[in-house]
Amino acid sequence: MRTTLAIPLVPLAATLLQAAALSPHELRCEYHENPVAIGTAVPRFSWKLKPADPAARGLAQTAYQIQVARDGGGFDDKPVWNSGKVASAATAQIEYAGEPLVSRDRLQWRVRVWSDGDNASDWSAPGFFGVGLLDANDWTALWISAPEDHAFTTRENVQNMADDPVRGKLVLTPAKYFRKEFTTPKVTRATLHSTALGVYTIELNGKRVSDERLAPGWSAYQRRVHARTYDVTALINDGANAIGATLADGWYSGYVAYGLLTGQEGLAPGISGRYFYGVTPAIRAQLELELDDGTRRTIVTDTTWKTSLGPITESDILMGESYDARRELTGWSATGFADASWPHAVCKTGTDSRVEPHPGMPVRPIEEIKPVSVREIAPGAHVFDLGQNISGVVRLKVKGKAGDKVRIRHAEVLHGDGRLSTENLRCARATDTYILKGDPAGETWTPEFTYHGFQYIELTGFPGTPDRDAVTGIVIHSDTPRHGRFECSDPMLNRLYQNILWTQRANFFEMPTDCPQRDERMGWTGDAQIYVRAATYNADIAAFYTKWLRDLNDDQWDYGAYPAYAPRPLARPGEHHAAAWMDAGVICPWTIWQVYGDTRVIREHWRNMNDFMEWRGIRDPELKGGTDDCNFGDWLSLADVKTPIPFIDLAYHAYDARLMAEMAQAIGRTAEAAKYRERAAKVTAAFRSAYLQPDGKLSVHNQSAYAIALFFELIPQERRAACAGHLAKLIRDNGNRMTTGFLGTRPLLPVLTATGHHDIAGALMQQKEYPSWGYEVENGATTIWERWNSYIKGKGVHEPSMNSFSHYSFGAVCEWMMGDLAGIDSAAPGFDRIRIAPKPTGTITHASAGMETRHGPLSCAWKIDNGAFIANIVIPPNTTADITLPGRGEITEGGQPAKDRPGIREATGRKITAGSGSYRFLTTL
Ligand code: BGC
Repeated sequence: MRTTLAIPLVPLAATLLQAAALSPHELRCEYHENPVAIGTAVPRFSWKLKPADPAARGLAQTAYQIQVARDGGGFDDKPVWNSGKVASAATAQIEYAGEPLVSRDRLQWRVRVWSDGDNASDWSAPGFFGVGLLDANDWTALWISAPEDHAFTTRENVQNMADDPVRGKLVLTPAKYFRKEFTTPKVTRATLHSTALGVYTIELNGKRVSDERLAPGWSAYQRRVHARTYDVTALINDGANAIGATLADGWYSGYVAYGLLTGQEGLAPGISGRYFYGVTPAIRAQLELELDDGTRRTIVTDTTWKTSLGPITESDILMGESYDARRELTGWSATGFADASWPHAVCKTGTDSRVEPHPGMPVRPIEEIKPVSVREIAPGAHVFDLGQNISGVVRLKVKGKAGDKVRIRHAEVLHGDGRLSTENLRCARATDTYILKGDPAGETWTPEFTYHGFQYIELTGFPGTPDRDAVTGIVIHSDTPRHGRFECSDPMLNRLYQNILWTQRANFFEMPTDCPQRDERMGWTGDAQIYVRAATYNADIAAFYTKWLRDLNDDQWDYGAYPAYAPRPLARPGEHHAAAWMDAGVICPWTIWQVYGDTRVIREHWRNMNDFMEWRGIRDPELKGGTDDCNFGDWLSLADVKTPIPFIDLAYHAYDARLMAEMAQAIGRTAEAAKYRERAAKVTAAFRSAYLQPDGKLSVHNQSAYAIALFFELIPQERRAACAGHLAKLIRDNGNRMTTGFLGTRPLLPVLTATGHHDIAGALMQQKEYPSWGYEVENGATTIWERWNSYIKGKGVHEPSMNSFSHYSFGAVCEWMMGDLAGIDSAAPGFDRIRIAPKPTGTITHASAGMETRHGPLSCAWKIDNGAFIANIVIPPNTTADITLPGRGEITEGGQPAKDRPGIREATGRKITAGSGSYRFLTTL
């Protein structure tokens, strides 16, 4: 059927027909807005629905139509896909089903929807997407490196660092510069595909092609390297052009994790701790020019490129960067630069990792922060306070003479006398150095290939006295779209929520890391699975996790276990998996499916997850719980009675089996679903017979054990209340204080609330005595700490050998703040069904939370006013919400009983079922 010509007819149609109640907007392809290069030929589309009348209720899409056309072509002549009108409420995860797509295709797409009867919306404004280079053969560019004498290190650097008191000898290598000139007739389009084993930036005719940092990120390089693609049409000249690339070690060949602490066998001091993937970084870039006459020319990295060292004399993610402005190569990435003395780049061979488009969000500067104070703590040493612990770098503004050397050190906390406390950074030097060229107009510098976790900055060697303007904090992290908000009547909780957000931001840095400051910054899998659901309340992490789940599955051990961190450059097989860490391989994909309705992630990793479960079964045939791994347990727990590893292992085994059954069902593997249901029942039974007593008491009698068992639904219904009673008593007897570590804290408040002990959950939440979230806030935290007592005012840093001030695991309580206190949660995959159940507690008199679901905004704001309970609720289109309100009085809306109000489908007792819309319910407590 031919579709209506959209442009001239729609306004007319709109006046004749009844206006459509919903229209599509916020179009996304593979979770991205107008992506330049997706990594699949079968993209998924999504949109959100906008009500024409904000006051309308109970709106739902009944059908949609998608059209995809070549970019520049018309939708009506020759669409490459026309879905036709599809009777469906789906607005996301809709797979392209048109003509086959290939690398470099550029397409536009649009969608229209039908709602309330048969009213079609207008066509949406078009979205765009490009297909990246999908095939190894698409790459004609060579991997190039600097020749050996340039590639390694300068003697100076080694000597300079020989005396480092903390780290001993460090080998720090300079960044390499590469350039090439070319001419071209006028281009209609220029696309740059680029990647590196290392980290890079590219400039065209003197201008950066992107503000991204540390591209192309970290992956399991031995298998997969990501590429970034940029539309650089605007940067190309007719005629002469120059392209330049800067390359540094990054995660590929620089210092990574705690390698320097543990050492690598057989390596010299200084070399240990780096070179996990390779010694020599390499870059690969392919600039594709489409000419006016329809032909194509490609400029590729090869040995015709020239290379040099330059101003970046040391560059390392953990150690920091040094820049000597006297060595600047002015004009090096523009035409006409004299590069005759530069040697040719060499070709890097033996690299056969797959290169594919980066599926996640880029790392980039997001925000700038000005210091709140500066203090001279010793002659010539100035300490600046940003007022906020962040991940990123410092931009330095300085005026002085050539050769002046400014050293920038970073720290999360101070000693009592105002000095930086850097002990907790362990082997991360986290020091950047700038040597001035002596520009009378002043100089500005921002390090490129490093980042730090810090709130405080120390400048030494600054010519003159720096004012507050001398430094600016540049906040850098993965650009996951942020959308969560929380606010309530307790200022401590409000600060805590901000701390959670800042910690998430600092650690959603190319992968979910444990911390941004010390020599670690790894994708610890335990931390990731604990926090992933909380993260989804605050930001759209679908693309970010799509990427990291590939890292995790790429680095699954070949015997089946998932590793304790991914990527896993340091770990050795057999010693690096752990109960509750390895289970991230199942829990994280399940969570992404639950929140985003994404079943592709399940399909993509199904075989690996299945292998993991097979191995889990073989390893523990008698279902006693495994112990043959690195045993972290309920990490950083304060309990006297520790939770034994077999307990944790068996509990997670049962939980995994249940999630596997649900996922199998969701992708139509019904036989496997049945198999996993059976397995879950068997493991649960084994757990019960090992640990559960007839009176609901667990033989492991500590808070975490109860919280985990209840949260994973391992306790039979008839003993749940008794079991929860034991948990409640343990907490009460401990003065309403926790003893839980990473594993027990995440489920603790949610299970208390779910089992009728919401008052205790509230008391824990508002607690300010150690150990508690309030204690951190009272002691000045601006991010979530690794330990409950990371820092004590007046006493300083506790246990600096392992202490991070930006560790998100304990921030998982965000789930309870949003889901229970404010009361918004999903009740079916993809928020197709929503649960709204605000639950006042303690001294809190109002709370408000909001987030974006795939259907649109969801929020609940409640307040207690003179015995009345008022809840303002926004339910996105296309969903149904099950609302439960507290109190006793009749529930009314607009002065009428709730059941009589538009949009309400059912109302009995405290429960209401409602369609989309904004509601203001009133009741009495
Ligand atoms: C990390 C953690 C991680 C743990 C394993 C630590 O060094 O920072 O967050 O999960 O090791 O127990």
